[in-house]
Amino acid sequence: MSRTRPPVLVTRHLPQEALDRIAAWCDMTLYDGEGAMDRDQLLTEVAGKAGAITLLTDRVDEEFLDVAGPELKIVANYAVGFDNIDVEACTRHGVLACNTPEVLTETTADTAFALMMAAARRIAEGDRFIRSGTPWIWGPLMMLGQDVHHATLGIVGFGRIGQALARRARGFAMRVLYHDMYRPPAEVELELGAEYRELEDLLRESDFVSLHTNLTPQTRHLINADRLATMKPTAVLVNTSRGPVIDEQALVRALEQGQIFAAGLDVFEREPDVHPGLLACGNVVLIPHLGSATVKTRLAMANLAVDNLLAALEARRPPALLNPQAWEQRTPRE
Ligand code: DGY
Repeated sequence: MSRTRPPVLVTRHLPQEALDRIAAWCDMTLYDGEGAMDRDQLLTEVAGKAGAITLLTDRVDEEFLDVAGPELKIVANYAVGFDNIDVEACTRHGVLACNTPEVLTETTADTAFALMMAAARRIAEGDRFIRSGTPWIWGPLMMLGQDVHHATLGIVGFGRIGQALARRARGFAMRVLYHDMYRPPAEVELELGAEYRELEDLLRESDFVSLHTNLTPQTRHLINADRLATMKPTAVLVNTSRGPVIDEQALVRALEQGQIFAAGLDVFEREPDVHPGLLACGNVVLIPHLGSATVKTRLAMANLAVDNLLAALEARRPPALLNPQAWEQRTPRE
C-alpha cells in the first residue's frame, strides 16, 4: 500500500543532500528563485502544506499560520535565530516551531573572531588600499591598528556562541568579561575565565565588544548612542547576532566622530540594505550575514532542519523544538 507523501514547502535552495532527504519522503515544493520568496508567493505556497522549512527572511506570523491552515504541523527554521517566527502564535495554532542550534556555534564564533581581527588590524581596509593602486612603501606609522592579544573582550549574550568566542579569546591571552540576563553556573565562568559585568561597565572596560544576543523587543537598539559614548575611543564593536541590536545611525556617528576605533558587522538593521553612512566609513568591516556560512555548517544546519521536519511529520518530537507546549498539546490527539 502506498504511503501518502506529506506536502511540504522549502523556501530556498538548501544543500542537495538535505533536499534529497525531503524528496524521499515528502511531496516537496521548492522555491528555486534567486532571492527570498516574496510575501504573496510565500502565503500562496504555504496554503495546505503539512510542513515548511523557512529562512530568517520569511516572516511566520498569524497571517502565515492562518493561510497555511490546520494541516500545518511544523515550521522548521533554517537558522538558530528565530526572530522571524512568532513562536507563541505557532503554539496557539498547534504548530511545532524549530530552529538549528549548536551545529553553527563554532563557525559563528570563528566569524566573530575574524571580524574582531579584521577590524582591529585594518585588514579589509589594507586590502582595499592595495587594490586601489595607490603608491606605498612600508612606513612606521602606516595603518596602525589595535592589538587583539592581551586585550579585554566584552561578550554581550553569553550563550553557546558567546561562550565559544570566550574559548577562542583564551588562546589570545585576552581578559574576558560578559553580560547576560542569565548567569551561567560558576563552573562555566571559571572554566572560561569570564567575569560578569553590568552592561555599562562592560562597555566602559572592554577593548572589544562582541554581540551575541537574540533579537527581542528588549535587545532592539541595545547598543544606542548613549552606550556607544561609554565605549573606549580605541574599542572595536562586532555584531554577528542581528542587525537591529545596534542603532545603526548612532553607530555611523560614533565611527565618524572617532568615539570608537572600528566595527565589524555581519548583520544590518535593515538587511539587506546597508546604511550609506557605513558604506562611507573606512573603519568598518562589512560582510553579508556570513556567520554560519561554511560548507560543513550549512549542510549540518540543513540536516538538522530536515530532522526537525521529518520527525514532526512522523509524529516524533523534533530534536530542536522551540515550543514544547505545542508538542504537549498535540501528542494525545495523534
Ligand atoms: C542564524 O542561524 O540565526 C544565522 O543568522 C544564520 O546562520
